[in-house]
This record gives sequence, structure tokens and C-alpha cells, in this order.
Amino acid sequence: MSRTIVLTGATRGCGRALVDAFASAGHTVVGCGTRPELVEQLRETMGAPHSFSTVDVASEQNVEAWAGKAVKEHGAPDLLINNAGVINRNAPLWEVPEEEFASVLGVNVGGTARILRHFLPPMLARASGVIANFSSTWGRTTSPEVAPYCASKWAVEGLTQALSQELPSGLAAVAVNPGIIHTEMLESCFGGGAAGYPSPEAWAKRAAPFLLNLSTKDNGRSVTVG
Ligand SMILES: NC(=O)c1ccc[n+]([C@@H]2O[C@H](COP(=O)([O-])OP(=O)(O)OC[C@H]3O[C@@H](n4cnc5c(N)ncnc54)[C@H](OP(=O)(O)O)[C@@H]3O)[C@@H](O)[C@H]2O)c1
Repeated sequence: MSRTIVLTGATRGCGRALVDAFASAGHTVVGCGTRPELVEQLRETMGAPHSFSTVDVASEQNVEAWAGKAVKEHGAPDLLINNAGVINRNAPLWEVPEEEFASVLGVNVGGTARILRHFLPPMLARASGVIANFSSTWGRTTSPEVAPYCASKWAVEGLTQALSQELPSGLAAVAVNPGIIHTEMLESCFGGGAAGYPSPEAWAKRAAPFLLNLSTKDNGRSVTVG
């Protein structure tokens, strides 16, 4: 059955590869990113019924407008994936500027909560749907120089578990560690070592069916893409 999938961070990296994998499996993707030129490329490449919008998940105004339009055109999402994320430049915590710390928390945690605040009500009204909040190995362990990112992903784990205790039956919230994938984000923290990891396209071949398989049985779980 064809599903409607809302995907934040659809323009690059893991999200961009998921767009192709979901679309070729016959699902409709409603995606976003902040860079208008990448959103336009997605529109041209994918066409209808998919839809892509320029949205900053850190902006209440952007998300409110996007959710209103998306739900009107496509209905409540069957699968809502909070994938958009940013990482701080490698540095000890005391050297991370105030604005950079706020941005990592604002996108990774605030953005996830904001997307949920606007997309969950129609899912609740329909009484079905799965939410996959992208966490990380660094949402369950830590490393030096990425403290803001670790703090944000540990928060995503906590937020997801608490949310799972609030949801009525028929809905599920799951924290998903995607694994380690060679994207621009990985290059930022691993440098040249990033090249040794799978491409987003190879990863998406496993990740798309894994995400589509999540169900109400997984509510409250912390899972890792195998
Ligand atoms: N790569 C890994 O190994 C790895 C490991 C663990 C967890 N993760 C998680 O997996 C997710 C995807 O990571 P990735 O490696 O694919 O990162 P990436 O290559 O840097 O891509 C990030 C995506 O998020 C979008 N984005 C960033 N800020 C945004 C904002 N404020 N509003 C809307 N979209 C925004 C970007 O689009 P624009 O440029 O258009 O804004 C881009 O599409 C993230 O949550 C990340 O924390 C990745």
C-alpha cells in the first residue's frame, strides 16, 4: 500500500537517498530542506505526487505553514521522519560559540518537537501513524568535541520515549540510530575517515524498508538500522 511519508532534511545526505528509495517503492514523499536551489532540483527530478518545500525546521512560522499545506494536500502522514539535523564543528564544549550551540539544539531538538507539534494533531485525529526521530550512536554514547550534538541526540532519545508514553494506541514514536553513513555531516566530524563508510544510496537500500517496517509494536523503542 502506498504511504505518505513526511521527511525533513530531504535535500542532502541520508534524507536525499531516502527520497529515491521511498519513491521507487511507490510511496509519496513530502520533504523539506533549507536550501531553495536543492528543493527546486528535487521538485524537478521527482515531480508529482511528491512535494518539496523550503522550510527551516527551526522556524515556527515555516513549519506551521508547511504542515498546514502538506496536510491539506496529502492528508496526515503515515510515516513522519524527523531526519533534518546539524552538528557542531569539532571543538571542546567551552570553545563552542553560544550561537552554534543554540543552533544544534534548536534544529535537532527544537525542530523535532516543532514538526511533531504541527504534524501530530492530524495523525492523532486519524488515530494512526509512525514517527521516526533520527538519533545517533551519539544519542546513546558520547565522544569528545561533539558535546552539543551528543546533548541534542540524547535529548531526542528522551523526548521520543516520553512521547511514546503519551501516544494513544495506533500511533508509535521510535528513536532511530541510522548507523554511520558517508555524508557531509560525517565529513565534518570524521574528516577523511568518513570515506570508509557506506554511501547514503547504499544505506537507503537497507534503511527505507527498515523504516517502512516500523509499527505500533516499536513504540518507545530505540532502534538501529541494521
Ligand atoms: N551521517 C551519519 O553517519 C549519521 C550518524 C548518526 C545520525 N545521523 C543523523 O541522520 C540525520 C541525517 O544526517 P546526514 O548525515 O544525512 O546529514 P547531512 O548530509 O548534513 O544532511 C542534513 C539534512 O538536513 C537538512 N537540514 C539541516 N538543517 C535544517 C533545518 N534547519 N531545517 C530543515 N532542514 C535542515 C539539510 O538540508 P539543507 O542543507 O537544505 O538545509 C540536509 O538535507 C541527522 O539527524 C543526523 O544527526 C547521521
